[in-house]
Amino acid sequence: MTTAPIVARTLGTLHEVLSHWQSTGVTYSLVPTMGALHDGHLELVRLARTHANRVVASIFVNPAQFGPSEDLARYPRDEEGDLVKLTAAGCDLVWAPDPAAMYPAGFATRIIPEGAALGLEADFRPNFFSGVVTVCCKLFNQVAPSSAVFGEKDFQQLCVVRQLVRDMDMPVTIIGAPTVREPDGLALSSRNRYLRPEERHLAPALHEAIQAVARGIGAGADIEAETLEAVRILSWKGFQVDYVAVRDAVTLGRPQGARNFPMRVLAAARLGNTRLIDNVPA
Ligand code: PAF
Repeated sequence: MTTAPIVARTLGTLHEVLSHWQSTGVTYSLVPTMGALHDGHLELVRLARTHANRVVASIFVNPAQFGPSEDLARYPRDEEGDLVKLTAAGCDLVWAPDPAAMYPAGFATRIIPEGAALGLEADFRPNFFSGVVTVCCKLFNQVAPSSAVFGEKDFQQLCVVRQLVRDMDMPVTIIGAPTVREPDGLALSSRNRYLRPEERHLAPALHEAIQAVARGIGAGADIEAETLEAVRILSWKGFQVDYVAVRDAVTLGRPQGARNFPMRVLAAARLGNTRLIDNVPA
């Protein structure tokens, strides 16, 4: 029988459980989320279980990573449903602070990442990575996990979080989990529920376009020609393309000269009011 996870809403409760685990030598991994969980998140929980004795999932819709015109109020919330799914996936503890517990009155510190946090998503969501690394730093300090699992679907976020823990000597191992996809290739995302039926039908074209870029450059084609062609096809199909880019898979720098390092094709595009992002190795 699966047991429901303990839900901690205050730092006091969180630390009570964690101190008990620490004193008995139990290891634990953290899966940071903003809730509205889908199978992709549950895969993160399952992967976390293979790296530690226990799994902590955080559910916190982080206001610091939303821009003024973004969907904070509209962001889907379903804590009851999330707890049912986390129980089935074998999560042991849920850290679900409210915004006042995470950012109490007087909170005045923000981390500004550079390097992998420049360009791509940052060109369209200027405060996003600063909000993400600030909350991840807080979560790592609050929970002190031995590892934390992030999805490759948000590939730039994964690179930026790896850079954060490397630059700040944080004692947590970051584990990247492969993207979970619908049978037609669409990457799972909490925002897919906003797609209208005709948009849902078109959406897998984003994955097809970046796979075509990866195949093309793998066969030696010109990177710029391949990305321009992907933008042309997606625009013709009705996407408003923010970017299709090929980058060094670790630093996210632009590839220079010999292509003897792993690369990644990353893209973001809007269908109606829904913004989709995806990436594949190249
Ligand atoms: O990927 C997300 O859901 C969020 O950006 C994260 C990592 C939980 C930080 O709020």
